[in-house]
Amino acid sequence: MPLVTSAEMFRKAYGKYAVGAFNVNNMEIIQGIMSAASEEKSPVILQVSSGARKYAGQVYIMKLVEAALALDPSIPVVVHLDHGPNFEMCRDCIDGGFTSVMIDGSKLPFEENIALTKKVVEYAHARGVVVEGELGRLAGVEDAVNVSAKDATYTDPDQAVEFVKRTGVDSLAIAIGTSHGAYKFKGEPKLDFARLEKIASLLPGFPLVLHGASTVLPEFVAKCNQYGGQIKDAQGVPEEMLRKAGTMGVCKINIDTDLRLAMTASIREYLALAPEKFDPRDYLRPAREAIKNMVKHKIRNVLNASNRL
Ligand code: 13P
Repeated sequence: MPLVTSAEMFRKAYGKYAVGAFNVNNMEIIQGIMSAASEEKSPVILQVSSGARKYAGQVYIMKLVEAALALDPSIPVVVHLDHGPNFEMCRDCIDGGFTSVMIDGSKLPFEENIALTKKVVEYAHARGVVVEGELGRLAGVEDAVNVSAKDATYTDPDQAVEFVKRTGVDSLAIAIGTSHGAYKFKGEPKLDFARLEKIASLLPGFPLVLHGASTVLPEFVAKCNQYGGQIKDAQGVPEEMLRKAGTMGVCKINIDTDLRLAMTASIREYLALAPEKFDPRDYLRPAREAIKNMVKHKIRNVLNASNRL
């Protein structure tokens, strides 16, 4: 199957489950995610941040994805630009074969966000590519995006309706209390489900997106720390909250931090227990397996997206 857009995926998922959008940077991560999606028979979104694009190179990523599609043509796969910072990067990704782009105008004033998003939508739709917009601002750090807690704002439901109408976006990332990175909550984790419900009721059937949705599973943080890491007071979004969001109009759930933790915990453990080893394959093989197991867990137990082909 060639790459697809997320339109059909979201139509099928709406109200029932969410499609996992996993950040990719290299071959092992792509292989781990794809073998998990194959085994779970789940659609999948591979998302590339501007940092990942800079790290690996757009052509490398696209060729790796091409290889993955050739190996298992049964899985619907989207390649998506995560947090596109400007029109030019969205255009380059669209021209380079991405089937979905996010234009992140969330830091801009409302009218400017609308104008920029609309411009990307016009370019993308003319080429059969879908667009995710963002309204409201998440706190935290995701590659090139860094927002302090005091600059974070939740999505206004009425503005969300106006934004979707005036831009023509295909999906919308909303801010309801999640944040990027490993330090999401200081005290009790809390999401504004009333706000999500309101937005979903004003935009019936319209796919919503949850960024900053890693759970920061304690056993992976503990393993990193056990083998030399220094990750303190990390806390993510509890799994039951994500399961609930997936039934309320959230069709895409973004996960990056949990993959980073799984991979790093595995590599730290391996190198600590086998200090005489220095063949990168020795530690990248179990790291790839750790990515696969994490993604399988997400698809099955958090996204409810197994057996959805
Ligand atoms: P996490 O940092 O919670 O994994 O969020 C990733 C994300 O939203 C990518 O856009």
